[in-house]
Amino acid sequence: MYRLLRPLLFRLDPERAHHLALGAGRVGQAVAGGALARAFAFEDPRLSQTVFGRVFENPVGLAAGMDKDARLVPLWEALGFGFTEVGSVTARPSAGNARPRLFRLPGDGALVNRLGLNNEGAEAVAARLARLNAEGGRRRVLGVNVAKTHDPAILGAEAVEDFAESFRHLAPHADYVALNVSCPNTREGKTFEEPAALDALLARIMAERVAMSLSVPVLVKLSPPRAASGPLDGFYAEAVGIARAHGVSGLIATNTAPDRAGLGASPARLAAVGAGGLSGAPLAARSLHLVRELHRLTGGALPIIGVGGVGSAEAAYAQIRAGASLVELYTALVYHGPALVRAIKRGLIRLLDRDGLAHVSEAVGLDA
Ligand code: FNR
Repeated sequence: MYRLLRPLLFRLDPERAHHLALGAGRVGQAVAGGALARAFAFEDPRLSQTVFGRVFENPVGLAAGMDKDARLVPLWEALGFGFTEVGSVTARPSAGNARPRLFRLPGDGALVNRLGLNNEGAEAVAARLARLNAEGGRRRVLGVNVAKTHDPAILGAEAVEDFAESFRHLAPHADYVALNVSCPNTREGKTFEEPAALDALLARIMAERVAMSLSVPVLVKLSPPRAASGPLDGFYAEAVGIARAHGVSGLIATNTAPDRAGLGASPARLAAVGAGGLSGAPLAARSLHLVRELHRLTGGALPIIGVGGVGSAEAAYAQIRAGASLVELYTALVYHGPALVRAIKRGLIRLLDRDGLAHVSEAVGLDA
């Protein structure tokens, strides 16, 4: 079905195609949620795990950015995702950067985006999630990804407070909160990957969590390393130390890449696309490398969500064997369509059988 639809969608501007596809999903969710869920059904107890205290029916999640405003959570569940990460949400609403700001590189199985954290803001998204939860509208794990408001004038202590404000609104409605400290699409967005800034941010967020009497797990989402092999930038070891000192529950690796390494697209095409975060297949090896190194650095003590170029059961399984307890995807959904989720889950069972493993948790970190 998606094989027929894709050429039509790909003739449209990527952002229009995105809204059209999500619009169709919204209608599907409203009128035929049950039928969708049956069509995409595939669950197996061998894929169900408890990670940072949450029960995941399967390890395949939707990555942040697809459903920034949390409008389609039941749809993602019906498509078979084990969990959904909505956002990034910021304290203040934002229209994001000027269009065009989303580009396909089909020969590379990649996207480039410089959306710039467009979203409705923490208060509006919190109200939507409160309604969803009150109506019993979801059954699976829901993560909320928060970022700093896209405004270069918000810096330093004010930026920490901006994050804390989003946390205050959204944490009560989430099964976990992911801190996006690695958005490459804002001029100032990456300052929180500096150790002192990360330390200050985590201190503030954890204090807020105590003040709110919440125990919601907090995760940190990191940037990809520069290369797919070799020693990591020293920052990562420092970040892991800081995250552990503050009682972070997990790491998400990785966000999009600002560079254009490993692409087949012509220099002219890349120049026409311009700046933005690269996602999809070209990120897979770097994401895998970071997951493996993070697993080693932590001795497997800190759960990892592997994300970046996951587009097949083999890629998901490689992430898991490298040390990821869970995986997420975004770009492959654009290229392969929603049937991919079930295909990955089925394929994971096949790969567990091949390797003589009884449960997905037994595969975590086998190749680390
Ligand atoms: C993203 N991603 C993202 N991440 C995040 O933490 N907050 C966000 O708002 C967004 N927005 C966003 C928009 C678009 C169009 C894309 C393609 C990606 C990054 C995403 O969650 C993921 O980390 C990367 O895309 C790598 O995974 P895939 O796409 O290779 O599966």
